[in-house]
Amino acid sequence: MVQEHENIVGLDAAILMSPKVWEASGHLEAFSDPLVECKKCHHRFRADHVEGTVCPDCGGELTEAKQFNLMVETYLGVVEGEKLKTYLRGEITQGVHVNFKQVVDSTRVKIPFGIAQVGKAFRNEITPSGFTFRSREFEQMELQFYITPSEEEGNKWIEYWKAKRKRWYMDLGMHEDHLRFREHAPDERAHYARAAYDVEFRVPGEGDGWKEMEGIHNRGDWDVGRHAKFSGKDLTYFDEEKKERFIPWVIETSGGVDRATLFFLMDAYVEEEIPSKSKIEGEENNEKETRIVLKLHPKLAPYKAAVFPLLANKPDLVEKAQIIRGELAKQWMIAFDARGNIGKRYRAQDEIGTPFCITVDFDSLKDDMVTVRDRDTMEQERIKISELKNYLAERLK
Ligand code: GAP
Repeated sequence: MVQEHENIVGLDAAILMSPKVWEASGHLEAFSDPLVECKKCHHRFRADHVEGTVCPDCGGELTEAKQFNLMVETYLGVVEGEKLKTYLRGEITQGVHVNFKQVVDSTRVKIPFGIAQVGKAFRNEITPSGFTFRSREFEQMELQFYITPSEEEGNKWIEYWKAKRKRWYMDLGMHEDHLRFREHAPDERAHYARAAYDVEFRVPGEGDGWKEMEGIHNRGDWDVGRHAKFSGKDLTYFDEEKKERFIPWVIETSGGVDRATLFFLMDAYVEEEIPSKSKIEGEENNEKETRIVLKLHPKLAPYKAAVFPLLANKPDLVEKAQIIRGELAKQWMIAFDARGNIGKRYRAQDEIGTPFCITVDFDSLKDDMVTVRDRDTMEQERIKISELKNYLAERLK
């Protein structure tokens, strides 16, 4: 999103800012979820997550919904009683918008241009749930893309970024039929949004259904306009070509890093029936077994390859395998494993998605070649040790 786009710069903004920022952004007033409470067991729920008026836990009667603000409060300052109440950022977005002028003045960007950021956000969620799907501390990855204010430009760029973001997930291996867009109805949109689409992921198995992974919003001139008003500073942009001054509109793409990671794991998780042991140890028989394999895109695999000595108790093999690991580790994350038998080691690496396993055997000591096994096909090839770097570089692209 940054390196491959001439007109996008990266930024790491503050987590703690003046509370005025959150007043200006509308978060203190409008960043809330509807909360209901059971009159009997006092459990609390998001009103839009319960069906009907009875408690899902005990069947008791639920209260009327009231708005519950999601901002996490904190206090700054050293004098007791005079501490300033402020907030941990509820979205990473505002740190970008308060730096809009700074970025325009200090870099050579011209509209249309974007500022991208990755960082932690905090929300006092009523019901954290679904592993890392909804938590109170999570990581966001965003682009705030500044454009000339008009409906036409807004529609053009929202379509452009929708297509780019879908491609981004697919280029990292996500299956196209597990992705779709869902447009928000006007009464569903966040307070800043003129138009909003979710990129949704189809969660497999139990709880089958489409879930939000990323939001793509037309924020109009809401953010920069409000920060100009609340700070009393001129935050207009001067378009040199058109000789026009205006508050830009913003198209944002706002993804959850933890949520996307969870979905990448689900998308890559495969259980497959394979002939028992035949591929891994060379024996043929008719029995079947289940292989669990995480078919992660190589860019997302935590380890790009694993190196094994065939036997752990042969110092020559161990030493050669460690030399190979050390050499490859200068470039990539490389695992080393000497425990158990080769079959077990393959399975362990399959489960964490390591694309290649490299085995040093007795022949390697004579011919300087190793066996490279591919995670997905389980095919094995003999490769010269001196060729390993090129071999991996080509296949990890
Ligand atoms: N700046 C716009 C914004 O924050 P959002 O739809 O509230 O929009 C964007 O959040 C993305 O952040 C969501 O699509 C989701 O992936 C992620 N996200 C939001 N709340 C989250 C939570 N409590 N836990 C994990 N991820 C969350």
